[in-house]
Formats: sequence, structure tokens, C-alpha cells
Amino acid sequence: MPETYDLLIKGGRAVLPGGTMTCDIAVKDGRIAELGEISDHAAGEVIDATGLTVLPGVIDSQVHFREPGMEHKEDLKTGTAAAALGGVTSIFEMPNTKPPTIDAAALNDKFDRARGRARVDHAFFVGATADNVEQLTELERLPGVPGIKIFMGASTGSLLVDEEEVLDQITKRLTRRFSVHAEDEARLRERRHLVADGAEPEMHPKWRDAQAAVQATQQICRLARANGARVHVLHISTAEEMAVLADYKDVATVETTPQHLTLAAPDCYRTHGSHVQMNPPIRDARHRAGVWAGVSQRIVDVLGSDHAPHTAEEKDKPYPTSPSGIPGVQTLLPLMLDHVDQGRLSLEHLVELTSAGPARVFNVMRKGRIAVGYDADLALVDLHARREITRDWLASKAGWSPFEGTACTGWPVMTLVRGQTVAREGELIGEPQGKPVGFLETLRESKAGR
Ligand code: DOR
Repeated sequence: MPETYDLLIKGGRAVLPGGTMTCDIAVKDGRIAELGEISDHAAGEVIDATGLTVLPGVIDSQVHFREPGMEHKEDLKTGTAAAALGGVTSIFEMPNTKPPTIDAAALNDKFDRARGRARVDHAFFVGATADNVEQLTELERLPGVPGIKIFMGASTGSLLVDEEEVLDQITKRLTRRFSVHAEDEARLRERRHLVADGAEPEMHPKWRDAQAAVQATQQICRLARANGARVHVLHISTAEEMAVLADYKDVATVETTPQHLTLAAPDCYRTHGSHVQMNPPIRDARHRAGVWAGVSQRIVDVLGSDHAPHTAEEKDKPYPTSPSGIPGVQTLLPLMLDHVDQGRLSLEHLVELTSAGPARVFNVMRKGRIAVGYDADLALVDLHARREITRDWLASKAGWSPFEGTACTGWPVMTLVRGQTVAREGELIGEPQGKPVGFLETLRESKAGR
């Protein structure tokens, strides 16, 4: 008697490790139970995926969801709704909330808030400060934590570690890969005068110049190597950093964002003004080409959205008082599918960057690939659908995107988290049932019930 499955996804083209093929996918108890041609099994539900492509769900390993403290910009409910609609099945959220996530109490508070409100699986970074250095090795091993985040340059919020001595101490202690925002704070301060009141947003990449990013990336990679630490350098924005990072592949993994691959100065500032102001900044076409080269040379391991919502009203304040950050968790996949359509990378390479890459870099348990035994976290996409990013599709409280009006060929039409449909054709489905993401490096601590 053949087994009864909870769900059968039939007839789609699935991007499996090692190749894309027509392949049915059976799901039982939230996990992938069988792959191949599965015809003689009963199933509670059948999804006809003929004409669609089935990807492992996106693991977006850099989002800012603003809860607690800035819920007027975003909260865990709306941020994860945006994720679900965009084919994102897990998010790793950053610690620059109010209060910042710098201790176990703040971390537990985020997990409590996410329960019953998050539509996708989730993990929360812990922020490093000069004052919590002693606790970091314990904090980095708490279940549901992807690692420690260090802001080397000040951005939204108060988190900052810019002293070499403190960075040295931190990199000596940490036992997991840590993530870093690499901009050199001293250089940013020195150059701040370039953006006096009345400056144009176009000045943003001149103030926070390439050298500020390169210097900080060099410094943190050097310290990581000297101290036997592993570093994940976030949102790489310059051509020069790619060369540096290629030399540090023994210890460094690399993230870039769809914004840095899609937009270029000065045009983007002329069109969108401070709405495309982010840190590190969107730079000129030479840097964009350099970042693409980093992708094609496989120096880049991960694509994250750096979803950083602010209200339109806040963004419309005169530069430089306008806050930095661009929303993007929902637009990551459509924008990148369009780049696939344009021939800039293959679909398999995209999946490497959005699912398998983050799973490898952060040692994620049971996610990031379509394989038996793995969580049935899936994004069903229509590679031929050409749709426009519109305001009414966006679920973020920010309510806007610099990509409104952009038409993308390739669109997420259905998202499943552990076998449950969470979004279909632009509609959210069911009640929020997201759970904490598991990490291999915290297995022992999870077992101890911490
Ligand atoms: O532009 C940015 N916005 N860069 C960051 O590092 C933080 C983010 C935010 O939280 O707004």
C-alpha cells in the first residue's frame, strides 16, 4: 500500500541540488518525503505545478523588521507578510531595534513577539557592543540566533563598534561566523562635512565613499584571519572590496543586495532622491559592474535584501536628515528573476545565492535545498509571467518601493513554509505559523532547552 502524503506538488520543474528537472515533490509532516515521478500515492492536497518552477524558498539573511520600538515603520507581522508574498520562507532579522537585541532578554522578547504573528520562519541576530563583549560567546549560541552582528560604521540605530581593540577582542572570542556592516566610522566622521544641510542625496556615495567600505572590510578580514574567526561581510557595494574578499576566502563569506546589482548613481538619486539612500550607498555603474563581477566569479555567497523600511514621510525629509534604508524583502526574488531572464545569472546560480548559500554560510538546519528530509520551504515561480511591482502588492508598512513601476519577467506565485501554503497569487493564506530557524551550531544548546 503506497504511503499517503499530506501534499503532492506535481508536474513542476524543480531546482534540485545539481540540476533542474521535472519532478514531483511529496510532503509529509512539513518535510519533503519523496522526489521524482510520484503517481500512485494518495495525498491530502495536490498542487498542479505544471508550467511553474519550484525553488527552495528564499532565506533572506538580512532584514530589519523594526519591532520592538519602531513599529510605525514595520513589525514582525507585516515584515513576514511581505516576505511570504515575495517567495521568502525564512528571515534573519537585525538587532538595531529599540531596544537593540544585545542580551538574552531582548532576544527572548523577539521570539515571543514572533509567535503566532510571523508568517515565515525566523532568526534574530544579536548585536555586539563594547559592553557585551564578555557575553557574546554565550549569546551567539542561543537557539534561533544566526550569529553576532557588528556595525563598524554608524547607521540606523545606536549600535556601533569602531575601536580596533574591541573588534580584536570580539574576533578573538567568537566561535561562530559573525556578520558585519563594514564602513569605517572614523572616515565617515571625517567626511561628514561634505553633506551639510541642503546637500543633494547624490552626495551620499561621496560622503560614505568606496574607501570607507574598503578600509573597514580590509580591517575586519585581517582581524578575523589573525584571530581564527569567520566573518560574513554584508551588502558589498564596491568593485575594490571584491578583490579584497577574494584574498580572504579562507575566513570570509560575502553578501550583496539586489539594490546594489540593479541601481546605479547618479541616475538613481536623480530619479528617486533619498528614497534610494542606504548604507553602504548605491554607487556608480563601475561599482555595480564590479559587484556583478563578484557574483559571476562566485566571490559572493549570499544575496540578502537588507530590507530597511522607513515611512515615505521620513524618507522625504531633506537630505541628510532623511534616514538610510530601502525596503526590499518582497522585491528580492522578482528583481533577481528578471536578472535571470536578462541572462545575467542562471536560475541555479540564483538559488545558490538565495537558498543554498545562506544555508551553508549560517549552518542552517534542514533548509535551503529541495531534498528528502528537508523542510518543505518552497517558492513556486512563473518564469514567464511579466508583472509590474505595484504599491498595492506591497505588504510592508513602509508602503513604497523604489522599484514601483518596474516590470519583472519571473514572479513568485505561491510560497510554502514547511508544507503550508502561506501566500498564493498575491494573497496571504492561513494564520501566521512561522517558527524559529534551527542552526547546527546551537544543537547542543537547543537540546539543553535554552
Ligand atoms: O541603509 C541602511 N539602513 N543601512 C543599515 O545598515 C541599516 C539600515 C536600517 O536599519 O535602516
